[in-house]
Amino acid sequence: MNTRRQLELLDLHPEIENVTREVCEGLQKQQKSLSPKYFYDERGSELFEAITQLDEYYPTRTELALFDAHLPDIADLIGAGSCVIEYGSGSSLKIRKLLEALSPLAYVPVDISRDYLLSNAMALAQDFPQLTVLPVCADFSQSIALPEQVGGLNPIGFFPGSSIGNFEPAQAKQFLGRVANTLGSGGYFLIGVDCKKDPAVLERAYNDEDGITAAFNLNALSHLNHLLGAEFQLDAFEHEAHYNQEAGCIQMFLRSTARQQVSIGDSIFAFDDGERLHTENSYKYSPDELIRLAEDSGFGCEHLWQDADEYFGLYLLKAL
Ligand code: AVI
Repeated sequence: MNTRRQLELLDLHPEIENVTREVCEGLQKQQKSLSPKYFYDERGSELFEAITQLDEYYPTRTELALFDAHLPDIADLIGAGSCVIEYGSGSSLKIRKLLEALSPLAYVPVDISRDYLLSNAMALAQDFPQLTVLPVCADFSQSIALPEQVGGLNPIGFFPGSSIGNFEPAQAKQFLGRVANTLGSGGYFLIGVDCKKDPAVLERAYNDEDGITAAFNLNALSHLNHLLGAEFQLDAFEHEAHYNQEAGCIQMFLRSTARQQVSIGDSIFAFDDGERLHTENSYKYSPDELIRLAEDSGFGCEHLWQDADEYFGLYLLKAL
């Protein structure tokens, strides 16, 4: 049956002036930088989906295998009457597996990319007709208000894909603290986190042969061109990614291949030939590090599942 369901969108997308201000502030720094959230317009979300299918990018398939092996146990631990709050409406395969295993009453996907959020939410609403789907368009690195309708349900936060790694550790701690607050004491948080490992494996995952990660990285510039009327020349920047052992993260940059100027509204930013624009850190956490971070943020770790290579960790945290 192909019933169309109307979805009520809670739109907390930041004002465009605030986006311009934030982007310009990053470009004024000594080390020019952009937040990794600007990767994700509709094309960026599609490119990220393509990354998750790459042979080089092991995190997604490793996490999915952990889901397949352990979701029944996770569902037993969590119990009934839940509302799943997904931070970032990502790979629909993971959320579908979780919804099937938990049969929650409500699902709240939170994402900054409105079109991607709505199309995913609509598809899920159609395929899970009993589920109340309440999309929230918001930047989840800030505090968010949950829709009123979920009050009284047992909230389960869901943050797969090691997206926590894209926060700086101090921001990750703040984020976890806010999630613990939102979920309330006893609320579960299911989070997938990439582990520290051989740097060669990590660097391969962010420098794929087909150039999909390069296209994803460059897409941040094309997104800002559309969103803010910026004038980045995409062919004057090159993708770069390497593991910073000291910081414990993959760092991505766009390297300017010429001396150039880029305008955004009335502001002009000068790039030297070879100057790098920092676009992403992807932190990797050993289980000890992640559990300490969670404990410092108001969670206890109920359970950790890992693959045989210990490449990836799936943690069930519980708000204290
Ligand atoms: C979404 N996030 C966890 C990905 C990562 O691995 O840090 C984003 C990504 N960047 C390059 N490839 C994938």
